[in-house]
Amino acid sequence: MSTPRQSQETLNPRPALTLAQRSNLWPLTAWGYPAWRRRSLTLLAGEPFSPGREAALFRGLCRPQPGELWLDAGTSTGFYAGVLARAGCRVVAADLSAPMLAAARRKEGGHPEGLADIGWLLTNLEDSGLPDASFDGVTVGATLNETRDPARLLAELDRLTRPGGQLWLMYLGRAGVALQRALSVPLLGGLTFPDPAWVARQLPGCTRTDMLKVGAVVFERYARMRG
Ligand SMILES: C[S@@+](CC[C@H](N)C(=O)[O-])C[C@H]1O[C@@H](n2cnc3c(N)ncnc32)[C@H](O)[C@@H]1O
Repeated sequence: MSTPRQSQETLNPRPALTLAQRSNLWPLTAWGYPAWRRRSLTLLAGEPFSPGREAALFRGLCRPQPGELWLDAGTSTGFYAGVLARAGCRVVAADLSAPMLAAARRKEGGHPEGLADIGWLLTNLEDSGLPDASFDGVTVGATLNETRDPARLLAELDRLTRPGGQLWLMYLGRAGVALQRALSVPLLGGLTFPDPAWVARQLPGCTRTDMLKVGAVVFERYARMRG
């Protein structure tokens, strides 16, 4: 699969979305997202956790190679897409929010290391319509918490990863606290806080090779089995 240089749209015009997903369709959310992203892991992990530390953890465990084709699933304003592009990878940065993709494009366009090989794709990744085994790797930075049906998203991302490829997940895990229970209610966000054992069960074709939990934040690397 070649990297699309232009934006593409495969978005179902009337998908069922959680409130959290719908909030990402607002231009104001896309505008404020980079500022939240810079501080979010420090707040959620309960210890200093800069984007640079997150990028180093990802690069150290996944070792993305120049020329590989990666999917950044729910890219928002392109954090993992940027890290991958600067490692020399080709990237499809996908999101169901057009304002997020527009903000990500502007951010990447202004990056001093420019020339990033990133294609932007507006799609609901629970049902992307992309061919099987399209990608050498997939990054999922907290999209699992927001998507309407996380089991369906994981099954789709598993299908899109080639045998021998890898899947990187960052998400807020289940902590059993009242705030998480409240935010799981559809009217208050419809968020999901998955248990790592549940996530593993949704990926029967993959083996978890690495897992790190810092506060409520879970990082996992899965390798997709060959053949
Ligand atoms: C928490 S943000 C993720 C941020 C980004 N991955 C990062 O690491 O900064 C979740 C993003 O996933 C997108 N999203 C949620 N569900 C999605 C789905 N089913 N398909 C595509 N994008 C989705 C949202 O629009 C939002 O931009």
